[in-house]
Amino acid sequence: MTLALCPGSFDPVTNGHLDILERASAHFDQVLVAVVANPSKNSLFSLTERQKILASVLSIYENCRVDSFEGLLVDYASRENVDVIVKGLRAVTDFDYEIQMAQMNCRLSGIDTCFFPARNEHSYLSASLVREIARYGGKVEGLVPPPVEEALRMKFTG
Ligand code: PNS
Repeated sequence: MTLALCPGSFDPVTNGHLDILERASAHFDQVLVAVVANPSKNSLFSLTERQKILASVLSIYENCRVDSFEGLLVDYASRENVDVIVKGLRAVTDFDYEIQMAQMNCRLSGIDTCFFPARNEHSYLSASLVREIARYGGKVEGLVPPPVEEALRMKFTG
């Protein structure tokens, strides 16, 4: 049984994230989606909100569960007996940072990182752009799942 860990901020989860999570669910026996609790980072959605949205959009995948962690990813991964960390790669701009983290995480814990390339249609998609578009009333349809569209509407228009 292979347990894959998909960590992230998911602030909010986008269709790009969902594509990676769906592919992880197809390739690995169990998928643990872990939302980082980063007190120093000002997130738009609270940790609870991010976890709830993820749990609702991932409920169709029987082998996925959602959790949160704080501190070092590798400490959490070791506690949970994770076999592999899974990340998505959009472009070379992601590569430098992601390879550095993957190598450091492997050095610290022996746990390897497996990368899925983003689909073309998601290569320019990021949660930070989605937040900015939604903040100024732009259209996020097709960029995020419907529950996130609704949650963004509530955040910015009440
Ligand atoms: O969705 P993000 O913001 O790109 O996710 C980044 C995340 C949460 C995977 C990364 O920031 C992380 O692993 N944070 C935990 C702290 C940690 O372990 N830092 C050392 C990495 S070598």
